[in-house]
Amino acid sequence: MMKKKIILANWKMKLNFQESHKVIDEFIKIHRPNDATEVVICPSFTVLEKASEKLADTGILLGAQNCFWEQAGAFTGEISPAFLKELGCRFVIVGHSERRSNLAETDEIIHQKVKAVLEEGLTPVICVGETFEERQDGNKDFVIMNEVTKAIEGIELKPADELIVAYEPVWVIGSGQAVEPEEAKHTHQVIRQVLIDHFEAGAVNERVRIIYGGSVDSTNIKNFFEAGNIEGALVGGASLDAHNFHELILAAGQI
Ligand code: PGA
Repeated sequence: MMKKKIILANWKMKLNFQESHKVIDEFIKIHRPNDATEVVICPSFTVLEKASEKLADTGILLGAQNCFWEQAGAFTGEISPAFLKELGCRFVIVGHSERRSNLAETDEIIHQKVKAVLEEGLTPVICVGETFEERQDGNKDFVIMNEVTKAIEGIELKPADELIVAYEPVWVIGSGQAVEPEEAKHTHQVIRQVLIDHFEAGAVNERVRIIYGGSVDSTNIKNFFEAGNIEGALVGGASLDAHNFHELILAAGQI
């Protein structure tokens, strides 16, 4: 089975309800779904319900930026994978570096979230990446291997499960300067090895995608996709405007 490429828009906490729906309305008008690429929008929680209604039958999929690790209960302020599924979400970003650093999200918390997301039949988008210091210390590959291992340890993929690992070098996010595609390609190979050591190679080939994130835009996406083992992109800044995001998707489709 040929895996489709996937492009996810991570809007972070940058667009309010009104702004988000303006972008969604514009994007629906200009986007033409194609068989080679899945497109996912991950807006704020407050936007999801109405976004789900609008995106139904457009071919554009919906994702959330975070979740809790239990499905229901006395957890004030939290939102579970089950609740997200109820709203039509198919994907949940887990362990974004902004949560790891600002909200002290640990590898163990991320692991619990990955399990909870899979339990509901949703696809976790597990973010991993090294900081600039870790890179300067020569620990990049070790950090990545460790984060991937901790996130998936003990988890078995059921036949219908899918999983995405997003390599996002922390120091590149939002900087406007992505890493070289060759570099991302190498790191993706490292991630792939960890995944194959843990899951069966067949499952990895069919149901796990390794994507890149960090200053992806319409001018560089093609180079990443051409690198060979990069199966999608997690896009922040360049997804906040419907036309920019559309350009990016068109550029990605040119390979
Ligand atoms: P960026 O963000 O594209 O603005 O660098 C990517 C992300 O944080 O997922």
